[in-house]
Amino acid sequence: MFDTIVQKEDQKREVPRVFNNGNGELEYTSALALETAELYNKVKRVITPSEWKVHAPYISEINRLKKEKGAIILAHNYITPEIFHCVADFTGDSLQLAQLASETDSKIIVQAGVHFMAETSKILSPEKTILIPDLNAGCSLAASITANDVRLLHKKYPGIPIVTYVNTSAEVKAESDICCTSSNALTIVESLESDTVLMIPDQYLARNIAKQTKKKILTWQGTCEVHERFTPDDVLKLRKKWSGVIVLAHPECTPDVVTEADFTGSTGAMSNYVQDKKPEKVLLMTECSMSDNLSVENPGVEFVRLCNSCPYMKLISLQNILTCLQTMTHEVTIDPSIAARARLAVERMLAVKNK
Ligand code: 13P
Ligand code: SF4
Repeated sequence: MFDTIVQKEDQKREVPRVFNNGNGELEYTSALALETAELYNKVKRVITPSEWKVHAPYISEINRLKKEKGAIILAHNYITPEIFHCVADFTGDSLQLAQLASETDSKIIVQAGVHFMAETSKILSPEKTILIPDLNAGCSLAASITANDVRLLHKKYPGIPIVTYVNTSAEVKAESDICCTSSNALTIVESLESDTVLMIPDQYLARNIAKQTKKKILTWQGTCEVHERFTPDDVLKLRKKWSGVIVLAHPECTPDVVTEADFTGSTGAMSNYVQDKKPEKVLLMTECSMSDNLSVENPGVEFVRLCNSCPYMKLISLQNILTCLQTMTHEVTIDPSIAARARLAVERMLAVKNK
C-alpha cells in the first residue's frame, strides 16, 4: 500500500533553474545569465565572463539551497570574491564573524573561512549547526601550539596571564585565560592587571603589541606562513615604483614590515581604512583576496598588487560550499567540557571589548 503525500503549496520546492548536463557539471543557461546579471555586474571588475559561466550555476544553486534550509554563510575577508560577494550573508574579520555567529537567528551556519573560525562560532553558539566546507582548511598559527604546550607554559610562568590569539584550536583556548584577535589585542593586554603578559602563539603579533604597551610581553614561536613572507624591502621597492602609495599591514607581519607601513590593523580595520579614506593608491600587506574584495566596493581606489595567498582559505570553493549544504557536512563538533572552558576565554575577550 502506498501512502499519498499531499505537498502543501508553501512546501513545494522551487523548480531549480540550474541543470546538470549529464557530466556532473552544472550548466550555464541563458535564463541563468539573466537571473545572475545584476550580481555579475557587481563583481565584473575581478571576475572574467568565462569565469562567471563556471561560477554562476553554483551561486544560483547555493543561494536557493540556503533559503530552503534556513542557512547562512559567513565569509572571512580572505575568501574569494565569487563567494564573498555572491553567496555570503555576512562578511568580516575574525572578531566580527564570531559575534555575527552568536547573534544570528539562523540555526545552520556555513563558515567560509578556516577551521578555527568555525570552532569559534561553535564555541559561542553550541546549539547551532556549524558547517565547514573543507576540514583541511587549517592555519599555520593554530598548528603551532597544543593544549599541552599551554599547560606547560602555565607551570613555567605561574600567575602570568595567557592571552591567546583566536587563531588557535578550541583545546588551546580552553587552557587560556583570555582570547584576543588582531583587532583588540592591545585593548585586551591593557585590560589585564599583571605587568607581564604571555601572548601566544603569534610571535609577530606579540612583538607588534609589545611596541605599544609598557607591559612586558612574553611570546611563543608561531608565525603566519602568509604574512611572515613580506619584507621591509618589498615596501621600499613598491613605494619607489608607486609614488604616493599608502601601505596597510596586518599585525601578523614582522615588526620591520609594520614599521614601514602607514597603518597596521586587522582585516576589518584595513577594510574600514580603505572605505573611509579612499586612498588613490593602496598596498595591502596581507592575503590576496582582500584587495579583490575591496576593489569591488571601491572602484576609484587603485590596488597595488603584492600579496600572498593563504593556501587554507583557498580550499573553500563554491563547489564544496554547495556540497556542504547538500550533505550537511562537515559539521564542526567540540567536546562539551572543552567548549565550555574555551567559551570562558572567548567571552572574557568579548566582555572587555564591550566595556
Ligand atoms: P583578522 O582577525 O584580522 O580577520 O585576521 C585573521 C587572520 O587569519 C589573518 O591572517
Ligand atoms: Fe592562518 Fe595566516 Fe591563513 Fe590567516 S592567513 S588563516 S593566520 S595561515
